[in-house]
Amino acid sequence: MALKLILDCDTGTDDAVAIMAAAGHSALELVAVTTVNGNVPLSNVTENTLRVLDAIGASVPVHIGAARPLVRPDFPIPRHILNSKGGVHPDYLDLPSSVSSPAEASAVRFLVDYYLGSDGPQTVLVATGPLTNVALALAAEPRLAERIPRLVLMGGARGWGNVTPAAEFNIWVDPEAAEAVLTAGIRDVTIVPLDATHSAPVSLTDCDRFDAIDSPAARAASAFIRHRIENYKDAPGNSRVDAPVHDALCVAYLVHPEVLTDVREWPVHVETRGERTIGQTVFDAREWSTEPRNARVALGADPKLFVRFLADAFAGDS
Ligand code: RIB
Ligand code: CA
Repeated sequence: MALKLILDCDTGTDDAVAIMAAAGHSALELVAVTTVNGNVPLSNVTENTLRVLDAIGASVPVHIGAARPLVRPDFPIPRHILNSKGGVHPDYLDLPSSVSSPAEASAVRFLVDYYLGSDGPQTVLVATGPLTNVALALAAEPRLAERIPRLVLMGGARGWGNVTPAAEFNIWVDPEAAEAVLTAGIRDVTIVPLDATHSAPVSLTDCDRFDAIDSPAARAASAFIRHRIENYKDAPGNSRVDAPVHDALCVAYLVHPEVLTDVREWPVHVETRGERTIGQTVFDAREWSTEPRNARVALGADPKLFVRFLADAFAGDS
């Protein structure tokens, strides 16, 4: 029986790889994708998501979500100031324009109705963008905290951040949403931070392997990852031969839990006020902490298993 999942994405290049892996791997059933403002503005995220699903011929409903953070009008540093042109996420993914349309129901409406329904308790929620949609759905229907069986989220960093020295992008975009989600009481939360995703970079050689598979997903993933390698500046001592594909690691974890290594159960909270630390994930590693251990945190990952998962998913015969 394939494991059902819903992906909440801010479709940029690594979200796109996550979507294709989730849609392609036979052990998974991608129920729907919800879109959220993040890497690019919401309308771009939604168009990019539709383009990816059209490109691989996957008929998966796409529900449009939040266009801005929960309480702030924009990012802590407004997008137009933050964005140096270029980078790992183009405004539009290099795929043909979408032919399919988004679903009628908004992301929040869909998440509330779905998780109150019979399939909700069997469906993992994977969030690979800012947590605005998840926070809004939990605020609209607090019962979702008991109905969502597992939340896997890409976000945070115990080491250095990527958008500021202290913060990782997904959490930093909407820190209030992240703190609301982490304290909502969802019983099974796994955080996949930069510490894990940077431990499992994908290389140009791996892209050659995907090209040899020669499926639409494999070709698209190879192109997106090559783009990331050319433009990724965050990795220390980056030699431009590999790059993390953050979001897809969350999907690999659903099929191969052992892909995440050095996993801890810690109290985790988000800084929502610091001038230099806004959006920082505060992992409480103190043995004697009395705070609720509200999340599982992975500090490492297995790059070989991660790439094998991707190859299996893109081959479609996994
Ligand atoms: O910091 C990396 C995360 O931010 C990834 O999910 C990437 O897609 C962006 O959303
Ligand atoms: Ca993302």
